[in-house]
Amino acid sequence: MKDVNRKILLNPGPATTTDAVKWAQVVSDICPREADFVNLIKRIRKNLVSWVADETTHDAVIFGASGTGAVEAVLTSLPPGKVFVINNGAYGHRMIQILETYGVDTIEFNSSSIKRIDFSSLEKAMSDTKPEHVAMVHHETTTGLLNDISRVGNLCQKYSATFIVDAMSSYGAIPIDMASTHVDYLVASSNKNLQGMAGCSFVIGKHEFFKMLPPSKSFYFDLGAQYRALNNTGQTRFTPPVQVLYALEKALQELKQEGIARRYERYVSLWQRLMKGLKKYDLSCLVPETEQSKLITAVIPPSSPHYDFQKMHDFFYERDITIYPGKLAESDSFRIANIGDLYPKDMELFVSCLGDYLSSLQKVNDHNQG
Ligand SMILES: Cc1ncc(COP(=O)(O)O)c(C=O)c1O
Repeated sequence: MKDVNRKILLNPGPATTTDAVKWAQVVSDICPREADFVNLIKRIRKNLVSWVADETTHDAVIFGASGTGAVEAVLTSLPPGKVFVINNGAYGHRMIQILETYGVDTIEFNSSSIKRIDFSSLEKAMSDTKPEHVAMVHHETTTGLLNDISRVGNLCQKYSATFIVDAMSSYGAIPIDMASTHVDYLVASSNKNLQGMAGCSFVIGKHEFFKMLPPSKSFYFDLGAQYRALNNTGQTRFTPPVQVLYALEKALQELKQEGIARRYERYVSLWQRLMKGLKKYDLSCLVPETEQSKLITAVIPPSSPHYDFQKMHDFFYERDITIYPGKLAESDSFRIANIGDLYPKDMELFVSCLGDYLSSLQKVNDHNQG
């Protein structure tokens, strides 16, 4: 296996992958209708379910699409009824955009992007509006805010609403148990904590729920039709991302070796190094530490008048490190994700380069003043 030039991706996915995952894509050409490929899909579906639910009662319906595709699949395929969306960031907002595009009756519950949800207001809003479905993001990648899906799940149970969770950036790192959190549909993708390639997203839910789905408002993203195709023929309705799925199986094998708990521990140890570095340089975070996922950190930029995100990005990119801009309109930030095939030395390198970058800002300042 040849080494591939390694880059340290600190953007919130697609994440850094192992060479073994990259090379798993190099396979003999195969028609995805062949039994060998059908079996690969079957193994992947079972494996995806196994991390969050009972493999006998649940299924994973995969799509050849980025994560947004699978979110769109659930939201356009639900039985009739109002969809109540908890919006505390860009991805909650995206759910609303999808629902509005398809003309679905939507109720928006706005909550701070940097603070914990106010559960008494949430309960009041749910009891006033009596939605049939409630949708939210588990880990808001916009800021690194980790939402409490368990408390919302209890409210969904109390008010008899279907519960849809976008777990795009938590699945594969933060343990989730769909049964105890009352999650009916969980959505994620191949290229974040799973450390696979981009191009496959999926919805996990109960067989009995998938079976009852009415025809979707979307043609491609018809969740019920895709479920039936996978169960009747073992194949996706349309051409799957063949090589991405070979890589995904390898990534799932690597996850099995590491385990979710140990993967999260590794990620948290990177986050701890990051926080130490930020403190050393007097930089702070948008979200209080107690509310953070410890997977993605939104950092308040340095106060220097010479700071410019793009220039900082280029400074790091030249050193094989990719960082990411912030996404909140109301406050400036940049984001550092510590997910993927990364190790302490990678975060230590980032912190040391950050020191060099901040010194370069100081030098410009000194030069201008002297
Ligand atoms: C929470 C969440 N939902 C949805 C998405 C959209 O995924 P994609 O960009 O793969 O369509 C992302 C991407 O970062 C995300 O973090």
